[in-house]
Amino acid sequence: MHYDGGTAAQAAVDIHLSGPAGACSRNLFGHFIEHFHRQVYGGLFQPGSPLSDARGFRLDVIEAMRELRPSVVRWPGGCFVSSYHWVDGVGPRRRPHYDKAWRVTDPNTFGTREFVEWCAAIGAEPYICTNAGTGTAEEMSDWVEYCNLPAGSGRWSDLRVEHGSPEPFDVRYWSIGNENYGDWEMGAKDPHEWARLVTESAKMIRRVDEHATLLTAARADLDWMLPLLAGAGQHLDALSIHGYWDVLNEVNRPADYLTALSRSLGPQHDIERTRHIIGATGLTGRVTIAFDEWNLRGWHHPSGTGADALAARDQNDDNSTYTMADALFTAGFLNTCLRNADVVTMANIAPSINARGPLFVHDAGVVRRTTFHVLAMYATLLGESALTSTAHSPSLAGADVPVLDHLPTLHADTGTLTVALVNRHPSAELSCDLSVGGQPVTGELDATVLAGPGVDAYNDVGTPSRVVPERTRIRVDEGRVVLPPHSVSVVDVPLPVTRTPGTVGARQRRSDWYLDHRVWRPGA
Ligand code: AHR
Repeated sequence: MHYDGGTAAQAAVDIHLSGPAGACSRNLFGHFIEHFHRQVYGGLFQPGSPLSDARGFRLDVIEAMRELRPSVVRWPGGCFVSSYHWVDGVGPRRRPHYDKAWRVTDPNTFGTREFVEWCAAIGAEPYICTNAGTGTAEEMSDWVEYCNLPAGSGRWSDLRVEHGSPEPFDVRYWSIGNENYGDWEMGAKDPHEWARLVTESAKMIRRVDEHATLLTAARADLDWMLPLLAGAGQHLDALSIHGYWDVLNEVNRPADYLTALSRSLGPQHDIERTRHIIGATGLTGRVTIAFDEWNLRGWHHPSGTGADALAARDQNDDNSTYTMADALFTAGFLNTCLRNADVVTMANIAPSINARGPLFVHDAGVVRRTTFHVLAMYATLLGESALTSTAHSPSLAGADVPVLDHLPTLHADTGTLTVALVNRHPSAELSCDLSVGGQPVTGELDATVLAGPGVDAYNDVGTPSRVVPERTRIRVDEGRVVLPPHSVSVVDVPLPVTRTPGTVGARQRRSDWYLDHRVWRPGA
C-alpha cells in the first residue's frame, strides 16, 4: 500500500462512528473437523508419529491451530455423524465400525474424550453434532448425560467416570443432526419427521442440560423450516446452515480466481433468506444463525466404494488448489458474517485440517495455506464490534461483485479502529479514500497485508511461505490509500482528533470476544 496523491480515488469508505456498533461473537472464528479422509486419522491424530504427544495429538498441529485463536470446534460430522454411535468411541475397548457415510472403516480410537482433550489443547470449546440420521432422541441425550452430568447421576455419567473422567466434560454446544434434509444423508427425513424428531430430541437434551446451547440442521427453505420452528423453535438457540460455493463432490475442477470471487455475495443471500424465515416465525432475537460448515471449495468425494473413488479424495490435499481466491473469498465471507453479527453467532470453516482446510498436515510438518493467514489476521487483529460504513466501489469484471470489500471494527478497550480492506481485482491496485465520520484519515498506519505474488499463488510443503502476511506501516494523507491487487489488508485507523473513545452508538452488547494479544506473528 502506498499514497498516490493523484487522481480521484476509484473507491471510498466512510466509517460511521455515531452508528450502531454490533458486538461480534467470538464464535464466528469457529472450526470443524470430521471423520473424513485425513482430517482426524493422519491429520491431527497420529499415534506413533515422532511429532505427536503421548495421546497421539500432533503437537505442530496444536501449535498452528492455537495461532487461529479457535473459539469452538464442531465434531464428528458432517455426513459421518448420521450413522455414528457415540458409545463406540468411548472407554478402553474401541470397536471399529464401518462408516456408511464415507464407506471406510473407522477405528474409533479418536472418540469423545480425545475430542474434548484436543479442544482443550488448542484452547477451543467443544461442539458435538449428534446422530439424528440412524440415532434416536434418547441416544442423543444419553451422549449429553455422558459428557455433562456429575458422577453419580446415573448410568452414562458413571460410565464416564469408569472410563477415567470423573469430572464432566462440560460440552456447551450441541447440534441435533446434520443436513438431514438431504437424500445423501444416512437416515434423511422429511420436514414433518424432522420437526417431530428435533422437538423430542431437544426436549430430552434440555432435561439433561438446560443450559446447553442447542442447534439443529436447517436450511433456508420454508417447507423445511416452518414445521421445524413451529415445533422445536422454543427449545433452540441457533439454526445450523451450510455453504460451499465451488461444489466439487464428483468432479475436482476448482473454479479459477475470477469465477470463485464472482460468488462472493452467496453467503449474504443465504443469511438474508434464513434471517427472514426466523423473523417470519417470530423468533428474531431468540434464534440465531450458525454457519457451522462453510468453505469456498466443496470437498471432493466421488460416489462409489471402490479404491479409485476412495483414492480420489487425496485430490483434496492438492495445495495448489488453495490460492488467493480462497483467501479473498474467506475474507469476504467473514466480513459478511461480521456485518450480520446481530443474527450470525457462529461460523465454522469446513474443515480446519487437510481436505479443503486452512491447515495442511503432512508427515514432517504442516503448511499454512492462504486461508490460514486470513483466519489468523481476522481472529487476532480485528476489534470486537463491527461498525457501519458507507462505501462505493467499481465492480469486478463480469460480476455484480464490488472490487472493494471492507469491514470496520472497534476495540472497545482502547476505542481504536481496525479496518479490513479487500481488493478483489486480479491485477490492478485500488485507490481508496478512507474517512471516519467524514474526516479523511491521516497519519502513519500500522497494517498487516496478505497479497501474494499473483492470484494463483499458494503455499506448499517446499514453499510454505510464498504467501504470508507482511507487517508494515503506511503513510496516509487526505485519506488516500492504495490497496495491492488480490489483497487483504487489516489496518489500524486512528480516530479523528475531535472524537474520543466511547462515543460510538449505544448498541454495544457484552460480547464473548477476547483478544489475548494483538502482536502479529507471521506464520512460521
Ligand atoms: O463434503 C463434506 C460434507 O459436506 C459434510 O460431511 C456435510 O455436512 C456437507 O454436505
